[in-house]
Amino acid sequence: MIPTDDIQRAAALRALLNRYGREYYELDAPTVPDAEYDRLMRELIALEARHPALRAPDSPTLRVGGAPLAAFAQVTHAVPMLSLNNVFSDMQVEDPSARHAELSQFDERIARELAVLPVEYAVEPKFDGLAISLLYRDGVLVQAATRGDGVTGEEVTENVRTVKRLPLRLTGDNVPALLEVRGEVLMFKADFERLNQAQDALGEKRFANPRNAAAGSLRQLDSRITAKRRLSFYAYAIARIEGAVWPETHQAEMDWLAALGLPVVEHALRPVVSGLAGLIGCYEAMLARRPSLPYDIDGVVYKVNRRDEQDRLGFVARAPRFAVAHKFPAEEALTVVEAIEEQVGRTGAITPVARLTPVFVGGVTVTNATLHNQDEVLRKDVRVGDTVIVRRAGDVIPEVVSVVLDKRPMREAAGVDLFSTSLEPVSPPYRLPSQCPVCGSHIVKQEDEAVARCSGGLFCSAQRKQALWHFASRRAMDIDGLGDKLIDQMVERGMVHTLADLYRLDAERLAGMERMGQKSADNLVAAIEASKHTSLARFIYALGIRNVGEATARDLARHIGDIGALMALADGIDDPLVRGRSLDTLMAVPDIGPVVAESILDFFAEAHNREVVDALVAVGVHWPQEAVADSGPQPLAGKTLVLTGTLPTLSRDEAKALIEAAGGKVAGSVSGKTDYVVAGEAAGSKLDKAQALGVAIVDEVGLLALLERGA
Ligand code: IVH
Repeated sequence: MIPTDDIQRAAALRALLNRYGREYYELDAPTVPDAEYDRLMRELIALEARHPALRAPDSPTLRVGGAPLAAFAQVTHAVPMLSLNNVFSDMQVEDPSARHAELSQFDERIARELAVLPVEYAVEPKFDGLAISLLYRDGVLVQAATRGDGVTGEEVTENVRTVKRLPLRLTGDNVPALLEVRGEVLMFKADFERLNQAQDALGEKRFANPRNAAAGSLRQLDSRITAKRRLSFYAYAIARIEGAVWPETHQAEMDWLAALGLPVVEHALRPVVSGLAGLIGCYEAMLARRPSLPYDIDGVVYKVNRRDEQDRLGFVARAPRFAVAHKFPAEEALTVVEAIEEQVGRTGAITPVARLTPVFVGGVTVTNATLHNQDEVLRKDVRVGDTVIVRRAGDVIPEVVSVVLDKRPMREAAGVDLFSTSLEPVSPPYRLPSQCPVCGSHIVKQEDEAVARCSGGLFCSAQRKQALWHFASRRAMDIDGLGDKLIDQMVERGMVHTLADLYRLDAERLAGMERMGQKSADNLVAAIEASKHTSLARFIYALGIRNVGEATARDLARHIGDIGALMALADGIDDPLVRGRSLDTLMAVPDIGPVVAESILDFFAEAHNREVVDALVAVGVHWPQEAVADSGPQPLAGKTLVLTGTLPTLSRDEAKALIEAAGGKVAGSVSGKTDYVVAGEAAGSKLDKAQALGVAIVDEVGLLALLERGA
């Protein structure tokens, strides 16, 4: 006999844990601290251990995993798990109608066989995870199996129960006696990053991509490990139903699964369209959204929407004829590292870059990939001659993901004694050079920093070029027509050594340069002249002080108000007392912390940097006196806003400037710390996230009201 109290307590704990779990994993809005969840979970585990009869097949305690298995059991699929045929588009083909030739053939065939025009299709993402089949009896998850060879798979029920977004019991009032659902187990990109960080911390091997991480996690004999891995799931098909009416279209199937509590992608990502034009439109739209989705997809899947039409089309070999996968260009490819070179950034930061055998990846030909910094090269152990996986996702800079060690070039080396030999890599591990490849100055690396820097400052032509480019850029001195090609030439011909030299250029010399006529030379001189009249904030930003971006430059201008006063802060800072006082003065400016304050002092402590400022003022660079603000009216002080979509009248820069002038901050992504999301036309995933988190959403009119009246 189990005491009634324990029965009631177990039921209460189950209900609480299910609710908190849902809030945490599905809504991303936990209402209790993790420790409270853990405490309740431990209590329920203890209760169930005392009274095994209390162990329900949908108990949340199953989420934490159980004792390791010796091996997975085999499961024969009642309905075979099929694969999809693929079509590809050649995005390098210019003619849009030729680009999607294979897809057009698919649509023509379907239309012909069905004698329907246009055909109605359901479109959805092709998830890059692994297929799984879930069996629910009387609403309770009783079995989960991998695809295996399509006929027999492995039983991974205990592992799948740890997938927090997946219901252990179906909800709603139309629960069938039996339901077999097919879908994809995957890992969100953020969870994958977190997992790899944890692997680093443990000194364990990193996973190459979210798909591998998901597969490795699902096929764990110890489900307690799976439980820690944060897997996700999306349903995409039904294999069997008993005791309920089978919905008539694919879209209705998905809506029904959602009503039963199964995770299905949001409506916007599974539209129903008609004919080839509809398919192509979806492909392009999904390709554009791909980088901003929280999980990897490797294409889209088109399914004839109506089930009666699906049945008429039937199957070929091991794939349905009513569906096809349309693959995106791969984001990863194999290529060879031909050399590792160092690039010098504006502030001297040295970035190792892999020069690659050209390879087509992510829709473009890639010849270079960043290796970030020395630690990163050593961690990945990238060497010249190595075959590597390069990745280019969306617009991001291509990077080397990992080395294919099996393909590393090796040579024979003398062994431990005269008679044996062993193999050793042809190339040694990477070493950061001790001298700048551009100017030969020493490279220095502070212990607490990942980046190494060239110590040459503006003596280094690489840094000089970029300093000039930054100085002339739109948000700095805004010198129209002074592009990087021109700057390269000016520096290489020795026409410009310091920033002030720009103001001594004459049209005659400029006209003699490559791709420069008299007219453009005249225009450039006029633009340079016009840039002399600027604002203090722009001027400070244009100096390119490390860690001083536009917002900090504006804060400095507003609160210090005078370039002389700013430079004076660096006077005598060899004395620790003076240095401390100056740091305090700087840190009294809102949003300036110790790191930024140090950078500012170090910059102005350099005599040649002060000379640069003096020289610029001497050639006539000037700005109106700043009204030093302790703090003017700051209706949005302390508030964080996120901009998304296109506003009717304000540009993004304008909206940002207004918000910052009102004391607010503009962040790039929505989180629990966001106070307002300002949404315009074609707002994207940020708006969805704001809605999910319950963040206040305003339009342009609402923003203007906030600016006036405050939050
Ligand atoms: S439907 C009857 N829909 O693609 C066909 N499959 O080659 C059943 N996949 O390993 C598949 N996203 O796991 C379907 N939205 C989607 C999918 C999808 C990914 C995977 C599936 C299988 C492979 C099929």
